[in-house]
Amino acid sequence: MRIGLTYDLKSYYLAKGFSQEQVAELDCEETINSIASALEKHGHDVERIGCLEQLMQALLQGKRWDLVFNIAEGLYGIAREAQIPGLLDAYQIPHPFSNTEVLAVALDKSLTNAVMKSYQVPVADFRVVRQEMDIAKVDLPFPLFVKPVAEGTSKGITARSVIHNQQELAVRCRELLEEFHQPVLVETYLPGREFTVGMLGSGEEARVLGVMEVCLHGAADSQGYTFENKQKYEDRVSYHLVDEPDVAQLALKAWSALNCLDAGRVDVRMNAAGNPVFLEVNPLAGLNPNYSDLCILCKLIDFPYDQLIHSIVQSCLKRHGLDSAILTNAACLCTLVQTDVSVA
Ligand SMILES: Nc1ncnc2c1ncn2[C@@H]1O[C@H](COP(=O)(O)OP(=O)(O)OP(=O)(O)O)[C@@H](O)[C@H]1O
Ligand SMILES: [Mg+2]
Repeated sequence: MRIGLTYDLKSYYLAKGFSQEQVAELDCEETINSIASALEKHGHDVERIGCLEQLMQALLQGKRWDLVFNIAEGLYGIAREAQIPGLLDAYQIPHPFSNTEVLAVALDKSLTNAVMKSYQVPVADFRVVRQEMDIAKVDLPFPLFVKPVAEGTSKGITARSVIHNQQELAVRCRELLEEFHQPVLVETYLPGREFTVGMLGSGEEARVLGVMEVCLHGAADSQGYTFENKQKYEDRVSYHLVDEPDVAQLALKAWSALNCLDAGRVDVRMNAAGNPVFLEVNPLAGLNPNYSDLCILCKLIDFPYDQLIHSIVQSCLKRHGLDSAILTNAACLCTLVQTDVSVA
């Protein structure tokens, strides 16, 4: 198949004058090369398209692909992860991972919490601070946890995210409002163990790949999987596969509640009573083979990276009723190989 690859490269935006912090969530060349190579190993013809602007140019030049493998995080707005998928929908080009509307909702953690609550998936009590005057209206007991409502890669999450009193709440909310230009999510602090759950497949076929506990050590910020801990994960964090059926079940329920597709991650933490609580869903999880949580988990379960990428494509094709086309192609490839052998 002809597969296009869309992404937001750190180096592309750094060259345009963006700061390291602004590009923290974006991808590096190694990730793009790894995905391209995995797709090529499965016989696909891969074209590296690039970012939204480059995709728009290619589409206007009349270029089309059988499928576009999109991992672009987007730069602007809370629906930024949904922008390329929306454009691909308009051109009727299949793309793996969740539908456009799900990508838009999932990046807003307050909207996602509301959806989860309506499906009886346990979430921490929460309030949204949209402007300074909302701070005084927060009526939840301390300790609390504050974070930007729509960031990833733990941006805005530091040792000061745990809040013990009204004064800390006011100071930190003001700082986050000013720095991130978006509402602040205030949640009950969940003091327990933390997990990330790898998900593969859609609808009835969705399954948990594994539950991975995130353990902090040494100089790590003890409050959680902060931005600093994530950057220095090799020294501060260890990852372990664990058998936690309640966590797995919660993740699957959350995945189904939003109708997430193909692959991703659900983050879970335990509350003071030791019960698992939904933190967030990542329908467009990082795919760096070395440091992305989903890929670390796949290594722990001996699920090769190339197989992960192949499974994502297959899940997408199946949803579009195109998986038989792949089988036919594979059958043709087999015949060709056999013919070559017999000629030799
Ligand atoms: N209510 C909470 N109580 C305790 N810790 C929390 C809470 N919310 C978030 N955290 C901590 O902050 C970390 C990052 O939060 P969250 O997963 O919401 O952010 P993110 O930036 O979207 O993460 P990712 O890198 O997975 O995209 C969590 O992994 C957890 O350690
Ligand atoms: Mg997270």
